[in-house]
Amino acid sequence: MSGWIFLSGMMGTGKSTVARQLAAQLGVEPVDLDARIAARAGTSIPEIFRAEGEEAFRRLEAEEARALLDEGRPTVVALGGGTVTRDDTRRMLLRHGTLITLSAPAEELARRLAGTTGRPLLESGESAQILADLLEERAAVYAECHAEVRTEGRDPAAVAREVLAVARRRPIVVPLGRRTYRVEIGAGVLATLGSRLQRHVPGAVVLVTDENVHRPWAARAIEHAEEAGRKVVPVVLTPGEAHKTIAAVEAIWDAALDAGVDRRAGVLAVAGGVPGDLAGFAAATLLRGVRFAQVPTSLLAMVDSSVGGKTGFDRPQGKNLVGAFHQPEFVLVDVDTLATLPDEEMSAGLAEVLKAAWLESEEAVAGLERDAAALRAKEPAAVERAIRMAVQLKADVVAEDEREAGTRMVLNLGHTIGHAIEAASDFTIRHGEAVGLGLLAAFRIAAGLGDPDAPLHERRCERLLRAFGLPTDLDRHLDERTLAFVGADKKRAAGKVRFVVPGPPGRVERVPLTPERIRALLG
Ligand SMILES: NC(=O)c1ccc[n+]([C@@H]2O[C@H](COP(=O)([O-])OP(=O)(O)OC[C@H]3O[C@@H](n4cnc5c(N)ncnc54)[C@H](O)[C@@H]3O)[C@@H](O)[C@H]2O)c1
Repeated sequence: MSGWIFLSGMMGTGKSTVARQLAAQLGVEPVDLDARIAARAGTSIPEIFRAEGEEAFRRLEAEEARALLDEGRPTVVALGGGTVTRDDTRRMLLRHGTLITLSAPAEELARRLAGTTGRPLLESGESAQILADLLEERAAVYAECHAEVRTEGRDPAAVAREVLAVARRRPIVVPLGRRTYRVEIGAGVLATLGSRLQRHVPGAVVLVTDENVHRPWAARAIEHAEEAGRKVVPVVLTPGEAHKTIAAVEAIWDAALDAGVDRRAGVLAVAGGVPGDLAGFAAATLLRGVRFAQVPTSLLAMVDSSVGGKTGFDRPQGKNLVGAFHQPEFVLVDVDTLATLPDEEMSAGLAEVLKAAWLESEEAVAGLERDAAALRAKEPAAVERAIRMAVQLKADVVAEDEREAGTRMVLNLGHTIGHAIEAASDFTIRHGEAVGLGLLAAFRIAAGLGDPDAPLHERRCERLLRAFGLPTDLDRHLDERTLAFVGADKKRAAGKVRFVVPGPPGRVERVPLTPERIRALLG
């Protein structure tokens, strides 16, 4: 069994039929959520609708789904057509299993449903029109799924096979309504680039990479894109944070414009976080915005920068001070690409993994402690586990607060001082290395603010940083120049930085602090 599989979609899409097919393939007993609710209530669904109204019915669905999960025996579940319209139910299903939306056009659904009874939402008029209106109304919630699978003109067994393939791949969903996208993680997923481009990017592909990644990864991506019939405009940037400038963005704009691309084009980053952020910004601004996609090739880009839609470039005053939010259409994390990543870059990415684990839970931090040596050695299973943990955390946070109005700021744990250290070193210190030091600084600030356990947490963090091959010599970096950069942090409001103060794993607090106070607390 591949965990829970939930089949959603409009009435008539064949949820129950496909659930039976799938369950037979897997040798499990399928569940029909409506049937369970009716059995428990001792009455029919139309009767519950009539007596108690739609909202009460949705609440029953939520309770029944929760009860089912609590039973703890993963199986295939055919949901009701409107089960996912409740935000809490939908997010719960997304988190606990594979949520698939089966789809078909309204006219086809009306044809399939003709002559059936027991559909309360179809009782008020002409079915095809009601279905078309409902599909439009529910488009954003149906889009929040692991995959939309077409059913029109297809054999249920073929639909079931496609659903199962998604469940086995376990993509991570960043649920943002109609702009929902998926992060596919695994060895060899780069080979699926062509079909993803065919689906998401109708025009030319402006492929941004850097000199270190060009061979073999970007070259391979170009082959896949060309085989899929896409014209490719390659842009090979000079590697390194020192080149994360407007000049690099101009190089991308100009390559695209010289090639005469139109608004059907997409920008694809096949690289680490620096070209990724630059390519995203170029996509956000080129022709007032074209599609964007990412194939991150550094661990840091896989676990952090490729997901969440923040794009931009540095200015002499500080890092990432000019940018835009622009979400990708898809992200392909091919762990095979890490084979050529230098060890120091692997270590730098592990600092962001540690940050994510500290935000996530005690279990996640303990998992890193167990896996530390395997991670440093790029052992595939451990690496994939860590990437999944970090990407899931990021997806959850971004879903809650896409534009960093509040909760998303927690992702800046370790970054206020980290960015300052990085900038003060003229970017000779890697971003991830600086974030590791920034984490230690954050614990020191927590201690200064009176948390008696902070020194303990700091030591735990320090041990992990060492195990990952990262620097821990914080004091050496806390000089005047670094502290001056703390004042330039863009998350300032009314002269104060919203500092992310860590507690035990899974708990952080945002505390407004003036740069002067931060200085004093760092001693
Ligand atoms: N947008 C966001 O939300 C976000 C989040 C975190 C970090 N970032 C940004 O990400 C950047 C850091 O990312 P990074 O560490 O990936 O930087 P990077 O792109 O400079 O990559 C680091 C180095 O690794 C090389 N490299 C990458 N993949 C490789 C591979 N598979 N094989 C061989 N060499 C490879 C690169 O050429 C480079 O020399 C920073 O600019 C930071 O601000 C952005």
